[in-house]
Amino acid sequence: MSNNKTESSYTDKKSTGFHHLKNQLETSKFRLRKSEFEMIKTLVKDQFGINFDDQKIGLVENRIQRIIRSGDFGNFADFIRYLEKDTTKRQLSDLVDCLSTNHTYFFREKSHFDFFFSKALPEVVATLQKNNTWDLRIWCAACATGEEAYTLQMLLMEYFGNKYPFWNAGILATDISSQALDFARKGIYSADRVGMIPKSLKEKYLTRLPTGDWKVIDKIRREVTFRRFNLVNKRFPFKNQFHIIFCRNVMIYFDIPTRRNLVEEINTWTTPGGYFFTGCSESIDRSIKTFEHVIPAVYKKVPC
Ligand SMILES: C[S@@+](CC[C@H](N)C(=O)[O-])C[C@H]1O[C@@H](n2cnc3c(N)ncnc32)[C@H](O)[C@@H]1O
Repeated sequence: MSNNKTESSYTDKKSTGFHHLKNQLETSKFRLRKSEFEMIKTLVKDQFGINFDDQKIGLVENRIQRIIRSGDFGNFADFIRYLEKDTTKRQLSDLVDCLSTNHTYFFREKSHFDFFFSKALPEVVATLQKNNTWDLRIWCAACATGEEAYTLQMLLMEYFGNKYPFWNAGILATDISSQALDFARKGIYSADRVGMIPKSLKEKYLTRLPTGDWKVIDKIRREVTFRRFNLVNKRFPFKNQFHIIFCRNVMIYFDIPTRRNLVEEINTWTTPGGYFFTGCSESIDRSIKTFEHVIPAVYKKVPC
């Protein structure tokens, strides 16, 4: 009996020790080492411009754990090795899905939409009409889950009313996150996410689903084209310039040279007399003289 006891307490101790070691190993599987963080940080910066300072190691570890826990990789080192060899770039795309911050909402920074509706749009439209052109080109860059692009499209419809069909208008909406774009294309938002839409617009352009969620109506959805596009690409794939560009709350994630390159590209792709909207906490390099500051975070490209 006493032997048994001794044996069992020995076994208990041993198994406790074993479990402890196992737990430790399990936990270390999900720990991101400093050197691994550096590798991911460099990769994400080179590929997408997104800059993480050293304090963000915990955040990066947390966000990528979903990939490691999915079971496809033994630990972060395996994941990094795979990323380096992955020619399909599918895993890289999952990585940026995890690491990008897609926070947005309808009518975010409302003063911009007021300015868009009452000043930028009427002015641009008047110039187009004067030149007998009916092509209005608007780009919503870094659109995240679609709220910004749908806000613009609702306002376009409101502005043109029954004249809308005579225009070749609509919104090109791009982002780097495939997951955010998939969400955006569906156009379904929970009740708490549509609270910022004025009631009259909400009732006109969204419909309430039996689940309690709200869906953007087809008339709006089919006018917004969602595409994956990386803003740090060397070449922008457009044929024509845009009259209005929204590129808000993404430059904050980039370092200064990356921001400067992006603003230069945006400058190239804005028509003279066109408008560029940045996020309210963002500003552009004063050396770009062709953009004049109009109201906080809104710039106009000097007309020819
Ligand atoms: C905070 S959200 C901004 C959403 C919206 N523009 C707004 O102001 O509410 C930032 C978005 O930028 C996107 N993003 C980050 N890096 C990008 C890149 N290199 N190219 C394109 N989009 C990028 C993210 O995926 C994310 O959806």
